[in-house]
Amino acid sequence: MSKLLVTGGAGFIGSNFVHHVIRHTDHTVTVLDKLTYAGNRDSLAGLPANRVELVVGDIADATLVDDLVGRVDTVVHYAAESHNDNSLDDPRPFLDTNIVGTYTLLEAARRNGTRFHHISTDEVYGDLELDDPARFTEATPYNPSSPYSSTKAGSDLLVRAWVRSFGVQATISNCSNNYGPYQHVEKFIPRQITNVIRGIRPKLYGAGENVRDWIHADDHSSAVLTILDRGRIGETYLIGADGEKDNKTVVELILSLMGEPSDAYDHVTDRAGHDMRYAIDSTKLRTELGWVPQYRDFEAGLAATIDWYRRNDAWWARDKDGVEAFYASKGQ
Ligand code: NAD
Ligand code: TYD
Repeated sequence: MSKLLVTGGAGFIGSNFVHHVIRHTDHTVTVLDKLTYAGNRDSLAGLPANRVELVVGDIADATLVDDLVGRVDTVVHYAAESHNDNSLDDPRPFLDTNIVGTYTLLEAARRNGTRFHHISTDEVYGDLELDDPARFTEATPYNPSSPYSSTKAGSDLLVRAWVRSFGVQATISNCSNNYGPYQHVEKFIPRQITNVIRGIRPKLYGAGENVRDWIHADDHSSAVLTILDRGRIGETYLIGADGEKDNKTVVELILSLMGEPSDAYDHVTDRAGHDMRYAIDSTKLRTELGWVPQYRDFEAGLAATIDWYRRNDAWWARDKDGVEAFYASKGQ
């Protein structure tokens, strides 16, 4: 049995990971989460109190972080400012949390000799052309486009430097776009699902040709547990489940799964600097560590996610109007 410190465990992917850990292991979990607009303590509701504790605080608070890191075996670091559109509006919190917060955690892991796993994104590699046969691998050069992805790239490089310079026992994973329950309604898939539930037409940026490589959040969690179990210190692993889809196809699928005409959506102002395509080659994780994704049917996973948002209006309703007002102010 291990004691885990999960930063950002009240956010989308972090909370899915905590649920996964409780279902599939006997680890105990301390969640450190600032409960920003993106954090929701209700995402941890129903978990056993003797195995999951929530500490509300900032990963950039060195005293708090040092104390918590000193009490666990392993840190799994999800906490971040995570939304590209917000990073175009106000980059500052992205620097504070993604860069300074990660630095603060690394220093605590160094002082305490604690195993550290850093969660990152494929967006650090920039984007691919639609017709490029290549996919991202661990050898792809970093080329981030947005304030969000550049601060994630910076945090990855800090982890690499703390491994090499100070011997911190760290691994890194870069995952593609996640979908599933507990995702904030600012993000693409939940925004469109909750729009349809509210009778608002889905909003597609630009022509909707941009491609994302979708993976279910539960598959991301099983990959992270695999890396914690068998990953080699200092290594980076790309996580992806061969789920490339363009945005137009995803919107049309959401509409048809929800019983609406598949063309009942609007094209809106495109995102500045919008990355065209992300695609992950996860051969290293699969061959070296033996990981396999379980959610192979995107349509079935999406239908289950739609069902979750239909059944959990109370979880997302608090955020919906504010998010739509923000997008409306930008013509999106
Ligand atoms: P999210 O925005 O849903 O959750 C982030 C969580 O971090 C929230 O609970 C928030 O309260 C917390 N947080 C933010 N700043 C904090 C701070 N200073 N101190 C403590 N807690 C803080 O994000 P997500 O989509 O769940 O992403 C989690 C991680 O996974 C991020 O590191 C992100 O870069 C990475 N990632 C996300 C995706 C994706 O598709 N969403 C894909 C690959 C990687
Ligand atoms: P998003 O969920 O913000 O993730 P990321 O920027 O990390 O890929 O967006 C996914 C894709 O969907 C991206 O190409 C932007 C697009 N998008 C829309 O077309 N409409 C929307 O309302 C949103 C939020 C995103």
